[in-house]
Amino acid sequence: MNKSLGTISRVSFRDEHPDLGDGRAEILAGLALPQKRVNPKWFYDQRGSELFDQITRLPEYYPTRTETAIINENRAAIAANCGDDSVFIEPGSGSSEKVRILLDAVRPAVYVPVDISADFLQQSARTLGDEYPWLDIFAVCADFNAGWDFLDELPSSRRVVFYPGSTIGNLDPAMAQTFLRTIATLVGKDGGVLIGVDTHKSTSRLEAAYNDKDGVTARFNLNVLRRMNTLLDADFDETVFSHRAFYNEDLRRIEMHLVSDVAQQVDCAGTTLDFKAGETIHTECSYKYSLEDFAALAASAGLEIVESWLDDEALFSVHYLRCAA
Ligand code: AVJ
Repeated sequence: MNKSLGTISRVSFRDEHPDLGDGRAEILAGLALPQKRVNPKWFYDQRGSELFDQITRLPEYYPTRTETAIINENRAAIAANCGDDSVFIEPGSGSSEKVRILLDAVRPAVYVPVDISADFLQQSARTLGDEYPWLDIFAVCADFNAGWDFLDELPSSRRVVFYPGSTIGNLDPAMAQTFLRTIATLVGKDGGVLIGVDTHKSTSRLEAAYNDKDGVTARFNLNVLRRMNTLLDADFDETVFSHRAFYNEDLRRIEMHLVSDVAQQVDCAGTTLDFKAGETIHTECSYKYSLEDFAALAASAGLEIVESWLDDEALFSVHYLRCAA
């Protein structure tokens, strides 16, 4: 591929028409459990995405800026692991913000952002293409969990999956293992995985990051009630629920809940949900890993750590993984 300066960037777009369902049945099933719960993926409507963006800039929320600094400072070493001319795949690429720190160093043969939001993906890919005229971009609108036949059309060079942001922390360990196994199969023997993982650390530091003074995380959490009102025709009232986030040290995860301040009934898709005073909806888990914990998780998925990079305080980690011999 011609990557000389001034080449008109080639941005192509492929729509796999991911079937997202309407979510109603899934959400209702979660709310019918003894411990009510809702999948954190429902946080991210327009308002939720904006609130998350604000979270990433909060003084208490160290993960985003720490990961960015780690990648930035170690981009030469990261690039050396990825090698030249890789097929660089980013599941859940969103605005493709973080990959920008790496592109000039990694110089992939093709960048493959994969996201379920078609319009946003297409716009982000075009903007990126304008900024990086030498870069080939193959944007794929797909549910990353539904197969990767589209990759067969790409060069057969080494595949590297980029999964920043400690997004893997939302998965419980069993699901994280399955996800990593799937990725291991996808990248194959010569491939790699570049992944950002939040670290296990003091409870006070962790709890501060999910209980910011400005209440942005609280608004982010409570926003899922509005989402359910829209999706389920429900009448959740934000003013009678409270944000709660704490570190479950035994399970090494932040848990976010919405606490019902009072005993109440909520109309929901034609049925009635009962809440006792103090009862919660569990809205998110965010698992934290020590280096040893993450190495064990990776090993359980057939992967081994080649190199890890951390900040001075070990607040966050970035790992390059490959299939274990
Ligand atoms: C996007 C899942 C990495 O777990 O820290 C931030 C989401 N929730 N504040 C995280 C989140 C509350 C975030 N992840």
